[in-house]
Amino acid sequence: MPKFQHHVFICMNKRADNDPRGCCTEKGSGAIRDAFKEEIEKCGLKGVIRANQAGCLDTCSLGPSVVIYPEGVWYTVKTREDVKEVTERHLIKGEIVERLLMPAPWARG
Ligand code: FES
Repeated sequence: MPKFQHHVFICMNKRADNDPRGCCTEKGSGAIRDAFKEEIEKCGLKGVIRANQAGCLDTCSLGPSVVIYPEGVWYTVKTREDVKEVTERHLIKGEIVERLLMPAPWARG
């Protein structure tokens, strides 16, 4: 049995302010990472689900970028409410949160 049931990777890439590509950090991914860690702890899932910061996931324009493995499902997660919904529906109940899926054919894993 794997050590963790899920890994939640949150892009924490930071680019210079004048970089035209932008980055997830400027879109608030630090707060999203912290919120995932807090939700996981609050739900008693520490040691079962792990939130990891990641480098650029190459979906910069769709960020803040979050990908959940082992499913390989990609989300745009912008708010604490989004984090709660992903935690409750995807990580606990195993549902895809349609409204937060990245608009890409591979987003469902
Ligand atoms: S900067 Fe976050 S996906 Fe590229």
